[in-house]
Amino acid sequence: MAEPFTLHSFADAATFNRAAARLLTTLAQEAVADHGRFSIALSGGGTPTGVYKLWGKRPFRDEIPWQQTHLFWGDERLVPPDVEGSNYNQVANLLLPHVPIPPENVHRAKGELPMAAAAADYTEQLKKFAAGTPVPVLDVVLLGMGRDGHTASLFPGSPVVQPEWVVGVMAEYDGRPAQRLSLTPTVLNQARHIVFLVTGADKAATLQQVIFGPHQPEQMPVQRIQPAHGTLTWLTDTAAAQNLTPLTK
Ligand code: 6PG
Repeated sequence: MAEPFTLHSFADAATFNRAAARLLTTLAQEAVADHGRFSIALSGGGTPTGVYKLWGKRPFRDEIPWQQTHLFWGDERLVPPDVEGSNYNQVANLLLPHVPIPPENVHRAKGELPMAAAAADYTEQLKKFAAGTPVPVLDVVLLGMGRDGHTASLFPGSPVVQPEWVVGVMAEYDGRPAQRLSLTPTVLNQARHIVFLVTGADKAATLQQVIFGPHQPEQMPVQRIQPAHGTLTWLTDTAAAQNLTPLTK
C-alpha cells in the first residue's frame, strides 16, 4: 500500500470500539462545521457492530449531529431489509431506534430488488445526493476487510477498473448472502476520509499482505482503496496488527 496512511492498534474490543466511535464522531462534527452535513457509507460484517451500538448511547448519541447526518452503505446483500443478513437491517436494529436521524437521511440500497434494478436505484439515490458534482464525495467511507482480502463487496477476481458507481456481485463468504451490491473504488476513493476497521488474529496475515505485500489488487481488492484526495486510517486491534511490528512498535 503505497499511499500515506495512519494505523492505530488497540489492545481490546472496548478500547477499539470507543476509539472508532470517537474518531467518527469527530469527523461528523467537523463535516457539519465545514459544509453543513455529514455523509457516511457504513460497512456490513461483524466488526463495526460495537461501534454502531456505541453511537446509540451517551456520550456519542448526544454528540453526533444526527439531523445533518446521511447514512449510506458501502455494500448491501440482496435480501429484504427486515431479514438478518441485510447490512441495513443490522444498523436498523443496533442504531436507528436510538438516535434522532430523519428517516429521509437513511439512504439504503434496496436489497429486495433484483440486482440490476437495485444497482440502478442506489446509483440514482447517490446521484440525487451528489447533485452538482461528477462523483459523490462522501465524508467518510467505513470499511471492513475479509480474510480473503475483500472489502465492501469487492471480492478477489473482480475487475480492477469499474467506471460504474455501483456494481452487482455474486460472492460466497462465510455463509453470508451471496448476491450483493457494492460501491466501486470510483466512489469509495473519492471520500474525504476512508476508515478501515479490522480485528482478530485471523485477519493478521491478510493485513500484513495488504500493507507490505506486492500490489495485486485483483487478488487483494483492499489494495484498490487508494484515496484520491482524502485520508486513509486503519483502526485495528493488536491481534490483527500482530504481523505489522515495524508499524506498531
Ligand atoms: C459485508 C461487508 C464486508 C465486511 C467484511 C468483513 O457486507 O459483508 O461490508 O466487506 O466488512 O466481510 O466482515 P467481518 O467484519 O464480519 O469480518
